[in-house]
Amino acid sequence: MFRLAITVSLIALALATACGGGSSGGGSSSAGSSSSSGASGSASASAQGKKVFASAGCKGCHTLKDAGATGSVGPNLDDVKPDTATVKRQVINGGGPMPAFKGKLSNAQIEAVSSYVSSVAGKGS
Ligand code: HEC
Repeated sequence: MFRLAITVSLIALALATACGGGSSGGGSSSAGSSSSSGASGSASASAQGKKVFASAGCKGCHTLKDAGATGSVGPNLDDVKPDTATVKRQVINGGGPMPAFKGKLSNAQIEAVSSYVSSVAGKGS
């Protein structure tokens, strides 16, 4: 009798656990993903882009004052002031003597270096 009671309560417990695990947790929690474009966020993205600019070799071919780059193989980026989309297209596909960086850089790195270059080109500092 006693043992049966334990068995029954164990089953009940197991069922309760299964139900709880299965049905909870859903819920749309889209509140947090609205805007993450604060000042600190773009600052770190730009730091990341600057790092990519130096480590990927852009520096060796392009002049960009903010990055301390004085390359002269490619156009002076401070003069052409490309927008983000232009940099991104050029970095992904290459063009002329410039190699394509698709596959060498991650999408995040390409994204970072593009917004970095477009945000500092022509500004010096
Ligand atoms: C081997 C040298 C070389 C390297 C490395 C290089 N570039 Fe270039 N880049 C060039 C040349 C040359 C051109 C001009 C291409 C043309 O005339 O079609 C160019 C063009 C560009 C342009 C287009 C400028 C315009 O006319 O609007 C951008 C933007 C650019 N490069 C950014 C970068 C970035 C960012 C990197 C690093 C991820 C990089 N480049 C690495 C040589 C290089």
